[in-house]
Formats: sequence, structure tokens, C-alpha cells
Amino acid sequence: MIVAIIVALDEAGTIGRDGQLPWHLPDDLRRFKATTMGHVLVMGRRTCQSIGRALPGRRSVVLSRNPAYHAPVGVEVARDFDVALARVADAERVFVIGGAAVYRIALARADELLVTQVHATVPGNVRFPTVDWDAWSLVEDEFHPADARHTLAFSFRRFIRRI
Ligand SMILES: NC(=O)c1ccc[n+]([C@@H]2O[C@H](COP(=O)([O-])OP(=O)(O)OC[C@H]3O[C@@H](n4cnc5c(N)ncnc54)[C@H](OP(=O)(O)O)[C@@H]3O)[C@@H](O)[C@H]2O)c1
Repeated sequence: MIVAIIVALDEAGTIGRDGQLPWHLPDDLRRFKATTMGHVLVMGRRTCQSIGRALPGRRSVVLSRNPAYHAPVGVEVARDFDVALARVADAERVFVIGGAAVYRIALARADELLVTQVHATVPGNVRFPTVDWDAWSLVEDEFHPADARHTLAFSFRRFIRRI
């Protein structure tokens, strides 16, 4: 099973603000959908709450330690990351879609990082964990300029683990 982290972050590593994404980048959302379609998603409870529903066409597993937590219809709950991975062990590819708490745990296990690097620094209160970039090789890098629908420029980058 390949475990891929998929994240959008700014130059300071910011990924979230007040429970939401700090930007609106429709082409990034479209790419997220196309990339993850048909695969398994693993996410934290807060990210699940910010999405608010099961994303169609993908099996979703949400992590929560709270036994009283009720996930949206169609979303499975697991009590930790290893339990979530064991539950979807037959999947070819699993995407860890955040937030910071789950990225922190998944980094050690991840085979790929799919990073939308936003070329700006924006206000926010949730950050991606520190990455040892020496452990990763950049294998794709595609620039997307700011335009009428995107106030910020960004780059799609794919890294694979070297060590
Ligand atoms: N830019 C991006 O690509 C991106 C992607 C995703 C999210 N975000 C943003 O990130 C923010 C949310 O991130 P966050 O770090 O605050 O929250 P989060 O990681 O989405 O959720 C945290 C919660 O997940 C559960 N959890 C986490 N690790 C667990 C583990 N190992 N075992 C069991 N349960 C675990 C806990 O739920 P309980 O409290 O229920 O136990 C924890 O409180 C939002 O602003 C969101 O918009 C950004």
C-alpha cells in the first residue's frame, strides 16, 4: 500500500485558519478531487468537520479518540492511524488529507508527498509539521500563476521518499 500525504501550504508552512483553508484555489481543489478519486482518504476529526460530508467516490476514514463522536454518513471512524491503515490494508493507495495532527503522525509512514506550494505567506493558525527535506526527492514541479480565479500563485510538487 502506498501512503501519500496531500497538502496545500504557504511559504511559512501554514495550512489552516480558524478551522478552514486560508485560501480559495479552485484548480487546486479540482486537482485534489481528480488525484484522490477512487482511493481511500484518512483525515482528522477537525478536517472531517470542516469538510462536513463524505466526499463522493472515495472511502473516508476519520481519526478520533472520542467514542461519542459521530462522523457524517458514509465516513468510517478509527481510533488511531494504525487502526485506520489496517482497516484499509487491501487498498492500493491511501491519501492522508490532514490536518496538522494527522500529517504529523503520517509523515514517518508516508511514501509520497503531494504538495501544493502556495507562493505567499498568509495569516493562519495551523501549520504543517517540519519536514526533513533531505529525505525526499522532488519528481514533479508544475507552476500555476495567479489569475482571475486565483489570487495567489502556486506550484504542484510531488516528492517521493529517498530514505
Ligand atoms: N491546507 C491543507 O491542505 C489542509 C488539509 C487539511 C486540513 N487543513 C486545515 O487544518 C485545520 C485542521 O487541522 P488540525 O490539526 O487542527 O485538526 P485535524 O488533524 O484535522 O483533527 C484533529 C483531531 O483528529 C483526531 N486525531 C488526530 N490524530 C489522531 C490520532 N493519532 N488518533 C486518533 N485521533 C486522532 C483527534 O480528534 P478527537 O479530538 O475527536 O479525538 C484530533 O483532535 C483546519 O484549518 C483545516 O482547514 C488544511
